[in-house]
Amino acid sequence: MARWTVKRLLGWTQEYLAQKGSPSPRREGEELLAHVLGIKRLDLYLDPQRPLTKEELEKFKILVKRRARGEPIQYITGRQGFWKHEFLVAPGSLIPRPDSEILVQAVLEGMKGRKAPLILDVGTGTGCLIISILADLPQAKGIALDIDPQALELTRANAHRVGVEERLALIQGDLLTPFKRGAFHAIVSNPPYIAPEEWDTLPREVREHEPPRALQGGEKGLYYISQLIARGWEYLKPQGLLVLEMGWEQKEKVKMLFKGKPYKEVELLTDLGGRDRAVRAWRE
Ligand SMILES: C[S@@+](CC[C@H](N)C(=O)[O-])C[C@H]1O[C@@H](n2cnc3c(N)ncnc32)[C@H](O)[C@@H]1O
Repeated sequence: MARWTVKRLLGWTQEYLAQKGSPSPRREGEELLAHVLGIKRLDLYLDPQRPLTKEELEKFKILVKRRARGEPIQYITGRQGFWKHEFLVAPGSLIPRPDSEILVQAVLEGMKGRKAPLILDVGTGTGCLIISILADLPQAKGIALDIDPQALELTRANAHRVGVEERLALIQGDLLTPFKRGAFHAIVSNPPYIAPEEWDTLPREVREHEPPRALQGGEKGLYYISQLIARGWEYLKPQGLLVLEMGWEQKEKVKMLFKGKPYKEVELLTDLGGRDRAVRAWRE
């Protein structure tokens, strides 16, 4: 029988994962093989005839089977790129999404000219938002809050990898309860915002593998967003910035939630697909 080389294995895996419904079978096969071999994906092509050892083949087979069963590739490799860095991810914490990078961008723009801003990230997950922000704002300090202690462990590890751990405090808590009024220059959050009736429309991969607590946003998906808008201003300094991710179909309801509260310049922000995916507002 012909030996299993990198090239042959990639061809076989592409076909197998395509049959199992993978949206990008070639790339996923490459990522899994690169992970097993401990090299970069593109470096697979430096030596396509490299044969695999029995141990490497066994390890690879297990990972491919996990992927074929629908487990997100990021949980299998334990990594996801976001903004300018690679973040550790693990089952139990949400995988960072490229669309959430607009939150990072909005905070960076909003904090231009502020000397040493203090920024709170509510529902930090892997810490991808606040860690990306602190890495680009060397004078800033941050607080990463999550209700889930496992998420905070990941955030700790990611903050260390990116080199911002000395400027980031980690707090386990429920929304804004642990904080003093008027403490922050900015509050950023990608809170759970999926409505119960939307749950069944999510991809199987998400429903079966990502943590419901990170996604389900209560009635109409608006419980956390409404709490953050109703109480967020109290924890912001005057002229402080609030940036929240939301579902693009929630925009009208979200805009209404700002009515009668001490905010100004409420503005929607579009994601990579051109959808209204976040809202930015300033405290009066
Ligand atoms: C949609 S995920 C966002 C994770 C990360 N910020 C990101 O953008 O990838 C929401 C996060 O909120 C956390 N969370 C859920 N309920 C919470 C609460 N009451 N207080 C604080 N965090 C909460 C979840 O554990 C989860 O990590």
